[in-house]
Amino acid sequence: MLSLFFQIGFMATFTVASLQIIPGSTITTAGTNQHMQAHGGGIVEVDNVFYLIGENKLAGSAFQSINCYSSTDLVQWTFVSELLTLQSSGDLGPNRVVERPHVLYNDATSKYVMWMHIDDSSYAEARAGVATSASICGDYTYLGASQPLGFQSRDLNVFKDTDGTGYLLTEDRANGLRIDLLSADYLSVVSATYLYAQDYEAPALYKSGSTYFMFASHESGWSPNDNIYCTATSLAGPWSAWADFATAGSNTFSSQTAAIVNINGVVMYMGDRWQSTNLMTSTYVWLPLTISGPTAALHNEVNWILNIAAGTWTTGPSETTPEAESSTNSWAGGARILTCSSCSNASDIGYIGGPSPGGTLTFKGISSTVSTTTTIRIHHNNGDSTQRYANVVANGVSKVIAFLPTTGGVPGTSTLTVPLNAGTGNTIVFEAYNSGWAPDIDRLMVPVS
Ligand SMILES: *[C@@H]1O[C@H](CO)[C@@H](O)[C@H](O)[C@H]1NC(C)=O
Repeated sequence: MLSLFFQIGFMATFTVASLQIIPGSTITTAGTNQHMQAHGGGIVEVDNVFYLIGENKLAGSAFQSINCYSSTDLVQWTFVSELLTLQSSGDLGPNRVVERPHVLYNDATSKYVMWMHIDDSSYAEARAGVATSASICGDYTYLGASQPLGFQSRDLNVFKDTDGTGYLLTEDRANGLRIDLLSADYLSVVSATYLYAQDYEAPALYKSGSTYFMFASHESGWSPNDNIYCTATSLAGPWSAWADFATAGSNTFSSQTAAIVNINGVVMYMGDRWQSTNLMTSTYVWLPLTISGPTAALHNEVNWILNIAAGTWTTGPSETTPEAESSTNSWAGGARILTCSSCSNASDIGYIGGPSPGGTLTFKGISSTVSTTTTIRIHHNNGDSTQRYANVVANGVSKVIAFLPTTGGVPGTSTLTVPLNAGTGNTIVFEAYNSGWAPDIDRLMVPVS
């Protein structure tokens, strides 16, 4: 089985070389056909499958569920299950705060242990909750919440050291950011390991060689700031001074730290681009993080390719950018050219979809130099406060794609991963899904290779 998996994985890297991670985009997940709802979380790898576990914000800030999605390439994601679900009362009841779920595997008990921030809607309880499961995306049994060592606990994360020792990272508003030692079964906090004098939140710990890197953000609510990091060779300190790791003034490329993960040798920053007025539209900012000696530096990329088998990454390939309203294309059934000042060529195509027969837009002559599965960016406008959908048919193969709301007429980006044929004969049709209105389409960004 193992060798079969590696063979498939090896072949897959040949044929899916243009799969792209696109920060800030709508990511439509198989199994829901909706934008991925796993905010404030992290990725756990089990048997060469990556599981993203995070908060469901589909209906706003209050707790709805903790979701789990799976992927083998970090681009195409499938909804697996809800790990914790809304209860009629208690810590997981209505109008509760359940944030930043993070999971560690405990080798001694063979259990997956989830720690999460538990609070009431005014953030007055400030407790850390714990739950366990026999499998990564199984049903988690909620065991309760407490204030670790009697201190407030808000944003939290977990860390498993190379010797298997577990730690809880927790933000104690009254005193500062803490590293606490977990018990051997990871289910309780045993003692304090370190207290940073600064009151930072959104912690994430990463170990490279013998150097520990602590990442965190300043406190500015849902708005992003320049996140910072510091290093030490012992968790008990001494820790270096805090420093920026992304371009100063970029507000960490408009994101807040959620986790730092190692994907087969590529260190990846996982951040949340929170949208406080409509939290379900929050997107994911995943970017390569360069660790060199005791320094960490984050690259901003519009699109990038992660080669998991090789443990390498590259920036995205060059692209063609076909306009929806180009005379090469065709539209019918009521779809028409609209003026759109923030769109490229100041126009897009609207009235796609809608009641039967519905408007359609057909991109013709889409080119690729190779036959490959590739990730196309779709620039779109959706003035609603909820997602719009389209049935997108690429060379006869259809897929439902979601499109998050956009604001101020400025196009947003959704992602479409489809096989393209070598040559200029590719056709991509946008049409109604369930008789709903699709978004207005501005243009596509199609990798040339
Ligand atoms: C730009 O938009 C106009 C209509 O507004 C259209 O006729 C023209 O073909 C578009 N140009 C390109 C390059 O797509």
